[in-house]
Amino acid sequence: MAFLKLKNNFFIFFIFLIFFNELVFSQCIDYFDALDHEVKRNVACPLVTDDPSKYSRRAPSSYEDESKIQITEFKCNNATEEICNKVKDTILIAGKIISKTFILKSPIFLSVNYTNLCVVQPDLCKLQGGKVVVIGAAQSAREILLLDDDGLSRYYPQSLVKQYQFKKHPEFAPIDIIATFNSIVNWHFPSDSDIPIQPKQFDMLYIVLHELMHGLGFTSNWQNWFLTGNKNQILITSKPDVVISDNEVIFDEFKETAFDRHLIFNSNYKNLSPVTVKLNDFANPGTKFKNVTDLIQNFLNSKQVVIAENMNNISTTFNSLSSYPKSCYTERAILETTLIPFQNGQSISHFDQSYINSPDFLMTTIQVPGKTLSDLVRQTGATSPIGPKLQAIMECLGYETKRNLIPYRPKLVYPLSGKS
Ligand SMILES: *[C@@H]1O[C@H](CO)[C@@H](O)[C@H](O)[C@H]1NC(C)=O
Ligand SMILES: *[C@@H]1O[C@H](CO)[C@@H](O)[C@H](O)[C@H]1NC(C)=O
Ligand SMILES: *[C@@H]1O[C@H](CO)[C@@H](O)[C@H](O)[C@H]1NC(C)=O
Ligand SMILES: *[C@@H]1O[C@H](CO)[C@@H](O)[C@H](O)[C@H]1NC(C)=O
Ligand SMILES: [Zn+2]
Repeated sequence: MAFLKLKNNFFIFFIFLIFFNELVFSQCIDYFDALDHEVKRNVACPLVTDDPSKYSRRAPSSYEDESKIQITEFKCNNATEEICNKVKDTILIAGKIISKTFILKSPIFLSVNYTNLCVVQPDLCKLQGGKVVVIGAAQSAREILLLDDDGLSRYYPQSLVKQYQFKKHPEFAPIDIIATFNSIVNWHFPSDSDIPIQPKQFDMLYIVLHELMHGLGFTSNWQNWFLTGNKNQILITSKPDVVISDNEVIFDEFKETAFDRHLIFNSNYKNLSPVTVKLNDFANPGTKFKNVTDLIQNFLNSKQVVIAENMNNISTTFNSLSSYPKSCYTERAILETTLIPFQNGQSISHFDQSYINSPDFLMTTIQVPGKTLSDLVRQTGATSPIGPKLQAIMECLGYETKRNLIPYRPKLVYPLSGKS
């Protein structure tokens, strides 16, 4: 089924190229709020060719040698200038750590918002046992649909697509990663190193590095997208690609992220992607629904609803899913599936909490206060804050490292979306 469609697309694309060369678009989604993934917009990003002089023109400064991660926008509210500078420095140190492990050919641009979330979004800032819930978040500013070698198209973070250095590429947004950090958190900054971290303090470097990994692509599209209003019926699917307008909702398949390509069931080591393919029997791409309620109701009435219910069971049962990027390195990491009910952005998109005591401590769901990043590196016997399992996942997404000099590269897809 998927294969047939691909062949069709290719044929149409061929004709399309000849007659309407400028109208070749790719499929992108832009995000505007690191804390709310619903604040987004589908954009038809045209394929463009880079001006090669753009990169070679400037002689690299010594700073660029160290870090390819740059702060392009920095908003710092409700904090002193001294704190704002400490935040900036912390992000630059995290950028250096990332640039040391991953060979970034194109710079990555960040938009950072350091703000008091308890003032601007009190709902995100409820205190639970004296602990602030949201301390930080990061998200790729643009996700770009690319075609993988298994015939499925998946969403890739712009930071990574840039590294592939396609001659022609979907137009990039000016920012690669958006990030928000909560200024009400009792932070310990790297420059405070002469003052020991207090038991309730969070090391900002630790949190920033964790969040940037999400922004670089450590994130799953297996989530609770269809809200039914029934607490006992939680549906977990890969992301339904929909275009919502005033009078209709157009459904265009369930889509995974690049990260999801390596997910397996621990029970049989089978990939999750065939489940996405089965979910896609729900409706042909381009199927129209009256509104979101109508779409969800149709899904509830479909055969595929059982798959989504089963995925909820699996993703709320300990030791059910792993990331296993075996085509790169045989590192398997058990993912977070202990949260009940399922939590978007937390479940599956993290390592199981038990890794907190291992060199792969960085991507667990709950970050520990009272420890700095270097404390954790030392205590777990790690050699880098980016642990071996995390590194293998990022390498298999397509990030280059010294031992992974020719990373995997998906292909461009050319949907016919010239009209939108
Ligand atoms: C931050 O906001 C709080 C509450 O509005 C206020 O009490 C505090 O003085 C502000 N701090 C700074 C540094 O602006
Ligand atoms: C920073 O983030 C908060 C919380 O999402 C938002 O309300 C605010 O508008 C953002 N500020 C800027 C300047 O983007
Ligand atoms: C959505 O469409 C259904 C079916 O036509 C209709 O009954 C319902 O009122 C609509 N809901 C909204 C929120 O417009
Ligand atoms: C999910 O688990 C519940 C409780 O264990 C069970 O009743 C239900 O049948 C399961 N659903 C599926 C689709 O497996
Ligand atoms: Zn996280």
